[in-house]
Amino acid sequence: MANIQVVADPVQFEEVLKSVTTGACLRVTGRLVASQGEGQGVEVQASEIEVYGTADPETYPLQKKGHSLEFLREIAHLRPRTNTFGAVLRIRHAMAFAIHNYFNDRGFYYLHTPLITASDCEGAGAMFQVTTLDLNNVPHVEDGPQKGAIDYTQDFFGRSTALTVSGQLEGELGAMSLGRIYTFGPTFRAENSNTPRHLSEFWMIEPEMAFYELNDNMDLAEDFLKYLIGYALEHCREDLEFMDKMWDEGLIERLDFVLANDFQRLDYTEGVEILKASGKKFEFPCEWGNDLQSEHERYLVEEHFKRPVILVNYPKEIKSFYMKQNDDGRTVRAMDVLFPKIGEIIGGSEREADYTKLVARMDELGMNKEEMWWYLDTRRFGTAPHSGFGLGFERLLMFVTGMANVRDVIPFPRTPKNADF
Ligand code: 4AD
Ligand code: MG
Repeated sequence: MANIQVVADPVQFEEVLKSVTTGACLRVTGRLVASQGEGQGVEVQASEIEVYGTADPETYPLQKKGHSLEFLREIAHLRPRTNTFGAVLRIRHAMAFAIHNYFNDRGFYYLHTPLITASDCEGAGAMFQVTTLDLNNVPHVEDGPQKGAIDYTQDFFGRSTALTVSGQLEGELGAMSLGRIYTFGPTFRAENSNTPRHLSEFWMIEPEMAFYELNDNMDLAEDFLKYLIGYALEHCREDLEFMDKMWDEGLIERLDFVLANDFQRLDYTEGVEILKASGKKFEFPCEWGNDLQSEHERYLVEEHFKRPVILVNYPKEIKSFYMKQNDDGRTVRAMDVLFPKIGEIIGGSEREADYTKLVARMDELGMNKEEMWWYLDTRRFGTAPHSGFGLGFERLLMFVTGMANVRDVIPFPRTPKNADF
């Protein structure tokens, strides 16, 4: 973040200084001396200046300070050169490093799960198809009951495939062998949601642990988030101070606060009661059985409890098939961690370890069990209680950097209608 000042004799360097404009790249040789002027301790008195690369002031877009983030998004190939994106990208690196540190120190194994997959983990049906079929000449099944359907046996993998929405299902296989694993990789969602919190390509960290029940899962999630925030405060101080000053006054205070306080844990059902009793006018009505909207999550976190909240035991209808069913027959052992300014930062659950109950739920949802035979095998052979969660890496970075838009915490954001570079 810190710059060095170079002092050059305007007469001696008259010619070369003409090409020293904002954005140019130089090599300077000189003496490092105590500075005469204000604002810096030392400066370089140049004896040689070589210009490696000029940057024409007429066409180089980063001329002034204080460009808007919207403008910088249009020049994502150059924005890493700004102080802001330098800080964000350094923090991003530090958080990735800290994530591996955290798990490695605690006996978790990093498992690489596939990006090309045939299964839809979250069942949301918003996947990017992967195919090498000629889109101008798609083969069709010629006869039999499937007549007229696209003939995927002719596709690259001999079946239809897509980019993964989550590494969890394969992660569960790993946990049944290695005990505790985590994944950390890109995931893809073809939802058409144009919000400040959604990307079409984002990075997710998914730990999965044998013998963990929901409470252990919550403990891990809280400890993990606090470790990462503490790591940023310790190792990224200068960048955080810059972000606090430039973009989000109160950032460091907020990080300190989350570190110092217990997360509030409560049932979805209680959460809905609080929301209904709040007297607050929400854009979307809050009813038991509906998914919470970001405005509801933020009310609980920012106005009611004034701290992060872990909401558990959601209605089964709004959660995925693999979650452990509660005895009440209508809720599952899901957990969402809700953060100030972000809303949902983590989603996870205890998993249904009982083969019969899992199959019954898949039948209720009309899922294709034959295709999931490999997943069901975890429950057929030596099943074990287990749990896991997914942390959205960019949601974490929004919280840690204070950036309000998820497009500004990833080098090259992919969002609907935007994948130019
Ligand atoms: O809640 P989600 O969909 O959970 C899963 O995918 C589970 N398989 C995780 C698990 O239990 N192993 O996603 C997890 C997190 C969310 O809480 C959010 O932080 C982030 O991933 N996320 C997104 N981040 C950016 N853009 C999107 N479109 C996101 N969708 C989810
Ligand atoms: Mg979720």
